[in-house]
Amino acid sequence: MKLNWAEMLVVNNPLRVFEQRFQIGWMKKHARISSGGSFLEIGCGRGAGASIIREKFSPGFLCATDLDPKMMNRALRYLPGQKRKSISFCAADGLYLPFPDSVFDAVFGFGVLHHIPDWQGALAEIARVLKPGGTYFLEELYPTLYQNFITRHILLHPEENRFCSPELKEALDSAFFTARASFELKFAGILAVLEKVS
Ligand SMILES: C[S@@+](CC[C@H](N)C(=O)[O-])C[C@H]1O[C@@H](n2cnc3c(N)ncnc32)[C@H](O)[C@@H]1O
Repeated sequence: MKLNWAEMLVVNNPLRVFEQRFQIGWMKKHARISSGGSFLEIGCGRGAGASIIREKFSPGFLCATDLDPKMMNRALRYLPGQKRKSISFCAADGLYLPFPDSVFDAVFGFGVLHHIPDWQGALAEIARVLKPGGTYFLEELYPTLYQNFITRHILLHPEENRFCSPELKEALDSAFFTARASFELKFAGILAVLEKVS
């Protein structure tokens, strides 16, 4: 589901960049991944995360994707010229990724699963395109944050098939992910570094 005007304000601002820089730094510390690999980001928004991923992990190839083609234009404006060197942007649905099986060393998803009605299907897609032993970097929010009595009137999210900590963990197990590190606020959200069991 695409963002409405209110969430555009929430994600396209310098505070979010600061937060993502901190999160990606934490992820790097807990990951076992070398530079030069093939990386994918789903739900990349305007590309601020992709730029930080490139800086911190030095991938050989980074493809940043988003369901909303308008985000690609935003990314081209946000990251002009050299700033998007070695990043390819492509509009794609996280549920139907246009890549063969087992091609990526790492997949990143920041705040995107909770925008996808069939988020378990998206997890299966992420597992499909990751190499065995590949790393999935995840940041997600729980409904207490985005569907409480205030935010449900301002933000736009799918209403059915929502997940909190137990449902997410069960689905990660079913998609054969095991956690290397996680930081969770049970009623708010989670930051995690996961590995696809080979
Ligand atoms: C909350 S924003 C997060 C943007 C960015 N990752 C960040 O953390 O600032 C969620 C993003 O996911 C995208 N999105 C929503 N549904 C999607 C889907 N099915 N496949 C891929 N991207 C999707 C939206 O267009 C939006 O850019």
